[in-house]
Amino acid sequence: MVELKTPAEIAAMREAGRVVARALAAVREAASTGVSLVELDAVAAQVMTEAGAKPSFLGYHPRWAPTPYPGVICASVNDAIVHGIPGRYRLQEGDLLSIDCGAAVDGWHGDAAVSFVVGGADPADLALIAATEEALAAGIAAAQPGAKMGDISAAIGTVGRAAGYGVTEDHGGHGVGRAMHEDPPVPNDGRAGRGLRLRPGLVIAIEPMFTRGGLDQYRHDPDGWTLRTTDRTRASHSEHTVAITDAGPVVLTLP
Ligand code: MF3
Ligand code: CO
Repeated sequence: MVELKTPAEIAAMREAGRVVARALAAVREAASTGVSLVELDAVAAQVMTEAGAKPSFLGYHPRWAPTPYPGVICASVNDAIVHGIPGRYRLQEGDLLSIDCGAAVDGWHGDAAVSFVVGGADPADLALIAATEEALAAGIAAAQPGAKMGDISAAIGTVGRAAGYGVTEDHGGHGVGRAMHEDPPVPNDGRAGRGLRLRPGLVIAIEPMFTRGGLDQYRHDPDGWTLRTTDRTRASHSEHTVAITDAGPVVLTLP
């Protein structure tokens, strides 16, 4: 069931979004060669503690997962697409890191992700990241009241396909509210003019993820969480939580 939020509820969600943005900025600042992923997890946890926010991901246990999620962030390195568990791995020069973070304030969630390269970058990785950012911007621009879900999906998919990237199948965005994952699904590819009508009060996470190898398939790691490209090429992920309002789309996961 799709639940629409009131302007007051969207204002409350903006506070959660602010904490998520701050945590992501702090993690990005801390991410350098030699730093471990668990250390980055602690950085995000600290920001949330100081803000009085609850980490949305920690302990999250959807039906498809073998264990409750053990981190505050997802840290997906190189060929990991999303849901990488922050472990003892230490970042190396040139790693492509995707950090995903969710926080709840007063029971309302925010969910966002950024991708970046640690140290000197392969220009092809920077192009991949620029593409998921461009697709996210295009998806947000399409999130207008009265438009259709397919307009968002088509905007995202078009950017990825035009560049020859893989667009991870069956894995995209979602509604956000009192639960981190709500209806409706927000597919990363689709046909303009189709699907759910976007109404003011709808709040969704838009999250393009592209792979350099051009394949849409992925595999789960033995941990049951990490999605990895089957061809081992690198992936990028960009995400914001966005409210559809009478005045147009409003990004909630900004500082
Ligand atoms: N942005 C990610 C998603 O919607 C957040 C996953 S949280 C996790 O899939 F706990 F499931 F990892
Ligand atoms: Co999400």
